[in-house]
Amino acid sequence: MYRELEKIKEEGLKALLEIKDEKELENWRVKYFGKKGELQKLIINLKSTPKNERPKKGREINQLKNNFLDNFKNKKQEISNKSSQTKWVDPTLPSILPPIGHLHPMTLTINEIISIFEPLGYQRVSHPEIETDYFAFEALNMPKDHPARDEWETFFVNDNIVLTPHTSSGQVREMRKRKIPPIRMLNISRCYRRQQDVSHTPVFHQFEGLFIDEDVSIADLKGTLEYFTIRFFGEDRKTRIRPYHFQFTEPSFEVDISCEVCSGRGCKLCKNIGWLELGGAGMVHPNVLKAGGINYLKYKGFAFGWGVERILMMKTKINDIRLIYQNDIRFLEQF
Ligand code: FA5
Repeated sequence: MYRELEKIKEEGLKALLEIKDEKELENWRVKYFGKKGELQKLIINLKSTPKNERPKKGREINQLKNNFLDNFKNKKQEISNKSSQTKWVDPTLPSILPPIGHLHPMTLTINEIISIFEPLGYQRVSHPEIETDYFAFEALNMPKDHPARDEWETFFVNDNIVLTPHTSSGQVREMRKRKIPPIRMLNISRCYRRQQDVSHTPVFHQFEGLFIDEDVSIADLKGTLEYFTIRFFGEDRKTRIRPYHFQFTEPSFEVDISCEVCSGRGCKLCKNIGWLELGGAGMVHPNVLKAGGINYLKYKGFAFGWGVERILMMKTKINDIRLIYQNDIRFLEQF
């Protein structure tokens, strides 16, 4: 080792050994690690060392720096241990509270949906997420090999078991359980589809409303959906209903909302249309009532199934659905 470095090392370690408190330790740190400290001086002087010796001397300076750093940390620990042993503890002081979080935006949205539908008499229910092909498709008027099934891009566990692609699987289950109308079901559940882009995730949530009684009409359906959108989005948001086709409702509709991200001008999220689809709706098909054991001559019903993530996005200007599931605290803190 270079004599000059050896001298600094010897002096430095000796001085460190004699240190008794934090103030002295800080002075030592400044003397050796400060901007004008001994180590910095060595680095500056390196320029005047003959070129062929520079790498060796550089390495030795580095070793010295690491040695000082280790010894400095040990000393710091030693001083802090000593001071904590002698510290006076006041047990009557209030404790330090851990940071307090809040519910996830999806949970908040689900709670809000429930609070909007509950006063209308809708009961929150749960049905299996791992579902039979029968309740997910056949009972909904989609026999095996029916082309309409393609729209649901389903995960199959085997020929007869699927991960439920929509909350509509709960319709016939609920009819069979409740047997006699009126039935007011609110089924909120995870759903699964082979899809992924700015507005689709493979695992997402839907909420499904089902109302069966005598004399239920499209006017009741429209009124219910309007009631929900005004309560959830406010009076000023524009929604529209357009004709569509579902095998399990007749007639069928889809409901769109003006895109909040681009204020209806058109963007990546709404595919430049200015509207974003919230979900489907319609009058329950007689074949579905029949599958549920309901007298379809006496009773009628309507149903609707909307995306929970979609309504959250359209309320709060989230422009990519995947943000909801990245668990980035900077995103979550905004709710
Ligand atoms: C259905 O799933 C029908 N079961 C809805 C229905 C219920 C119609 C009752 C009639 C009567 P659709 O495939 O359009 O319809 O999905 C409904 C909504 O779920 C979509 O508009 C969207 O908001 C949401 N959604 C569908 N797939 C995804 C996905 N991969 N990621 C996020 N949201 C999705």
